[in-house]
Amino acid sequence: MAHAGAAASSSIGLSRVRSRLSAQMHSPLVDRACEPYRRAGLFAYNFARGKLSGDPVFRAMLERGLLLGRGHILDLGCGQGLLASWLRAALLCYEGGTWPQGWPPAPTPRSTRGIELMVRDVERARAALGPSCEISQGDIRSTDFGTTDAVVILDVLHYMTREEQLQVLKRVRAALPARGLLLLRIGDADGGLRFRYSQWVDKLVMLFRGHSSVNTHCRSATQWREIVRECGFEVQASPMSEGTRFANVLLIGHAQ
Ligand SMILES: C[S@@+](CC[C@H](N)C(=O)[O-])C[C@H]1O[C@@H](n2cnc3c(N)ncnc32)[C@H](O)[C@@H]1O
Repeated sequence: MAHAGAAASSSIGLSRVRSRLSAQMHSPLVDRACEPYRRAGLFAYNFARGKLSGDPVFRAMLERGLLLGRGHILDLGCGQGLLASWLRAALLCYEGGTWPQGWPPAPTPRSTRGIELMVRDVERARAALGPSCEISQGDIRSTDFGTTDAVVILDVLHYMTREEQLQVLKRVRAALPARGLLLLRIGDADGGLRFRYSQWVDKLVMLFRGHSSVNTHCRSATQWREIVRECGFEVQASPMSEGTRFANVLLIGHAQ
């Protein structure tokens, strides 16, 4: 009976997640954030729609108010600039009265900069968000970060060696003031089958997006937490795979 009860409640849980995701898929927020990508082509538009409606991290950043009060935001490995578009859309929805009930106010950053390695992604970002968007082409292992109040790194650091990961995180810490924010999403290498599935999807998507080869350098969530702490952050971890088959974790770091 205990098993039947657990199975029933987990299937109710799953169907709640599915109906929430389906509502999100058609939400004004997702529509607004994806609309600009029509100018960047079908691939860019469909990619934006899939990611912004299905990846729980975008919703979590707003629903939990993680970026509230952060004047300058820097998105490292920003791809086609989805975070910048998401934050613009959030403000428009908030001001236009189509903001989800119960969520904290939308963040109002003065700037959202992005750095991305792949020229094609930068071009898609600029085509969608306009030439004035602050998305630049560069390698985060060497590009200057300047100073900022929050750094967001979603699914990027595992593409570089462990030493390079450490150096990037140290430079991120140096770019932030005390209590500055780091949002780092990683895959948990201790996540078993779910982790292996996410690695497989990751490689496929990256090859599809034009990377010639994809070598990854992964760590368990515990090991990621440890190096983030070593680099001068207080860290909390939050599972970030709701509605997906991945083993992702969001590390929320505050600079000490
Ligand atoms: C899985 S995608 C995630 C994109 C984006 N963060 C998002 O969540 O939509 C990883 C991105 O990191 C970029 N990337 C990988 N290594 C990089 C590096 N050394 N410098 C800058 N960008 C890099 C890739 O080109 C790719 O766009």
